[in-house]
Amino acid sequence: MKWKIPYIDFGRQFKNQEKSHLSNFRKIMINGDFVLRDEVLKFEKTISSLLKSNYVVSVNSCTDALLLSLAAMNFKKKSEIITVGHTYVATLAAIKHIGLEPVLADISDDFNIDTRQIEKLITKKTKAILPVHLYGHSCEMDSIMKLAKKHNLKVIEDCAQSFGAKFKRKFVGTFGEVGCFSLHPLKSLGAAGDGGFIVTKNKLLYEKFLRFRNHGQGRRKNGKYLKSRYDIDYFGFCTRLDNLQAAIVNTKLKKLNKNINLRNKVAKSYNNSLKNLPLVLPKIYNKNHYLDVFNSYVIRTKKQFGLFKFLRDKGVEVLINWPKPLYHHKGLRLKKIFLKNNEKICKEIISLPIFPEMTKAEQNYIINCIKLYFRKK
Ligand SMILES: Cc1ncc(COP(=O)(O)O)c(C=O)c1O
Repeated sequence: MKWKIPYIDFGRQFKNQEKSHLSNFRKIMINGDFVLRDEVLKFEKTISSLLKSNYVVSVNSCTDALLLSLAAMNFKKKSEIITVGHTYVATLAAIKHIGLEPVLADISDDFNIDTRQIEKLITKKTKAILPVHLYGHSCEMDSIMKLAKKHNLKVIEDCAQSFGAKFKRKFVGTFGEVGCFSLHPLKSLGAAGDGGFIVTKNKLLYEKFLRFRNHGQGRRKNGKYLKSRYDIDYFGFCTRLDNLQAAIVNTKLKKLNKNINLRNKVAKSYNNSLKNLPLVLPKIYNKNHYLDVFNSYVIRTKKQFGLFKFLRDKGVEVLINWPKPLYHHKGLRLKKIFLKNNEKICKEIISLPIFPEMTKAEQNYIINCIKLYFRKK
C-alpha cells in the first residue's frame, strides 16, 4: 500500500545523502571490499569515540549482539535474567537461545522497566538485569546500577531503539557491562538491512566478541589482522556487519545529531498540538536528565483500535508496538504472569510516524486527522 504519510520515508532519507551513498557503493563494489573491511573498522572507531566506550564490535543485528553478550558471560544454564515483557521478541529470544530464563518485571508509564519491581524478582539464580531502553528513551539507570552493584549482577543493556539517547548526560549502552545496538532500518541510525553492534569497556569480552562474530577466529591489533586469525579458539557465530552496510551508516552518522534534533522537534510539535485531546502524550524531559531520540513517538488512548483504524484509513501509517505482552504468546511457553501496567499499556499505545525529514504539512495532516477523530466521537 502506498501511504499518504509513511511511518518513515526511506526514499527521502536516501536522497538527502545520495551522492555519498552512491560513490561508496561504487568504490566498494569495484574493490570487492565486502567482509570486515575499512568501512567496518571506521564505523567501530567512530562509535567508540562518540560513546566514549573503549571497545566496539559490529555484528549482524542487535539480536546477535544480545546473543553474543549473553554467551560470553558464561552463565550457568537456567540462570535468570531480569528484563521486561514489553519489548521486541528478540530480547527474550536471545536469553532463551543461550539456555537462560527471562524473568519479567512490569513497566512504568515511560514504557521502560519499573525499577521498583526489580529487587523482589532477584533470586539465587539471578545473574543479570537486562534493561530495554524503549522507543528512544533511557531507563532510569541510577536505580538499576545500584541494584546490580548491591546484588552483584551484570547489566546488559538492550539499546536497539535508543542509539544516541542519554541518561544524565551519559549515553545508553555505556552504563552496564555491555550495550547492544541495532542498525535495522527503522532505528535512529539505520542501515539498508540488518546490522548491529556491541559496546563494552571490558577488554576480555571485547576480544571474545571479535572472535565470536567470526566463527571463533580473527584477532587484530590497531585495526590490522594478525597471523593468529587462523587459530580457532572455540566454535563461534557468523555475524559480521557487511562493509556496504557499514558505509551506509558511516554516511548517516554525519547527520546523527541533526536528525536527533529534528526528531525532537517533531515530538514537541505533536505534543503542543495534541495536548488538549483525551490522550496521554510522551513526556518531554529536560535534556540534562534524559536526552530522548524519539525512535518512536508513542501516544496512549482508550480508543486504540478506533483511532488506529481511522488514521490508517486516512493514509497514515501508524503502528502498534506491541499489542500483546510477550508472556501471552502461547508458543513462547513463558511463565504465566500478569503485569498490570504492561497489560494496560499494550491496549492503549499507538506509534505515530516520526522521521527527521517529515514536513510541517505532514505533521499538521496527522494532527488534524486525530482532532477530527475525537470531534466525531
Ligand atoms: C527492543 C529491541 N531489542 C532487540 C531488537 C532486535 O534488533 P535487530 O532487529 O537488530 O536484531 C529490536 C528490534 O526491533 C528491538 O526493538
